[in-house]
Amino acid sequence: MDVFNKCVVNPGPLGKYAKQTEGYFMFPKLEGELSNYMMFEGKKRLVWSLNNYLGLGNHPEVRKADADAAAEWGMAYPMGARMMSGQTKYHEQLEKELADFVGREAAYLLNYGYQGMVSIINAMVDRKDVIVYDSEAHACIIDGMRLHFGKRFVYPHNNMENLERELERATKIVNKTGGGILVITEGVYGMSGDLGKLDEIVKLKKKFNFRLFIDDAHGFGTMGPTGAGTDEHFGLQNEVDLYFGTFAKSMAGIGGFVAAKKEIVKYLQYNMRSQIFAKSLPMPMVIGALKRLELLRSQPEHKDKLWSIVTALQKGLVDAGLNIGNTNSPVTPVFLNGGVPEATQITYDLRENYNIFCSIVAYPVIPKGLIMLRLIPTAIHTLEDVDYTVKTFAEVKRKLENNEYIDEIKVITIE
Ligand SMILES: Cc1ncc(COP(=O)(O)O)c(C=O)c1O
Repeated sequence: MDVFNKCVVNPGPLGKYAKQTEGYFMFPKLEGELSNYMMFEGKKRLVWSLNNYLGLGNHPEVRKADADAAAEWGMAYPMGARMMSGQTKYHEQLEKELADFVGREAAYLLNYGYQGMVSIINAMVDRKDVIVYDSEAHACIIDGMRLHFGKRFVYPHNNMENLERELERATKIVNKTGGGILVITEGVYGMSGDLGKLDEIVKLKKKFNFRLFIDDAHGFGTMGPTGAGTDEHFGLQNEVDLYFGTFAKSMAGIGGFVAAKKEIVKYLQYNMRSQIFAKSLPMPMVIGALKRLELLRSQPEHKDKLWSIVTALQKGLVDAGLNIGNTNSPVTPVFLNGGVPEATQITYDLRENYNIFCSIVAYPVIPKGLIMLRLIPTAIHTLEDVDYTVKTFAEVKRKLENNEYIDEIKVITIE
């Protein structure tokens, strides 16, 4: 059998929908300046699906820093991996500033958040160790664990009783192997917006011996009094042993970092394969990240504005009778009853008749019978945007309840 056979016969769980959905539901092109309004299919739409939380993506100082750095350095420098020929004082400066910001002794840059996460996990555990992780862990955590030769135990999302049970099992194993336990959770769960129960997990440290690692992709820049993350929000920076943040969301860039005690970061620097065997982040990314971090620290008004939009949006939706689940973060899910056909029609209706562009999720990502519309408020949205969106969502809910989303004509079908 030809290995390429599957590309035609079984293009994968998402790929099988490519023909009907590509360009509209999947791989849509949002054009124009990064903003609350962007062009989609030639029309201006109100966009709620960008993780540009603080609105820095198009901030004039950020754009200038990016452009100046590209003009001065180009995209090539430095050439090679950090360890070989890709080290600069700017990479080190960014690491120092990131570490200070998240209240840790040291930090190390990652070329991409995803690959970085995979490599941190891979470097941190060996076959004697056990990983205990939340069932809603992001794909990068799952992929990191695929490289792990030892045991791994999952606990149902945020279920502390189950976590305790898994820690008991893990403890029995490491008592035999002589290894350790790594617990992995997210700070903010990026789909549902609820927080990892860091306070309760940390309490379990009294009973069990483990290290806690958080993926704070959505919490960095948005959570905590200074925006330093979900562990700052809980006042637990000293208890979270390993901290991961990405530049792909609040920082509106690319890359990421890991932060911890000095000796842990030093170990990772010499053992994360995706960083040892890959080219260093180019200068515009590094200089650009320094500028973004400076704005995070010196202009809290972006976070304040974000939260004023978050509060208005979430309150408005709840007051209008919509179910936003258990979010405690800017991520705002709206749960409705229905399946893939309704999800498809609602998305189409929102985009074509109300000019609202948001992401939509259905089974199997969430339980059967539910649809989730996911809204990401940002500092560049306005209260008028919120008002319009709340009214529209109330209308969509009413239409759904009146069975108005069964009209085949409006539908772009997914097989
Ligand atoms: C929870 C979480 N972890 C990690 C990542 C990966 O980060 P990056 O986009 O920097 O690769 C993402 C998505 O971007 C994410 O949502």
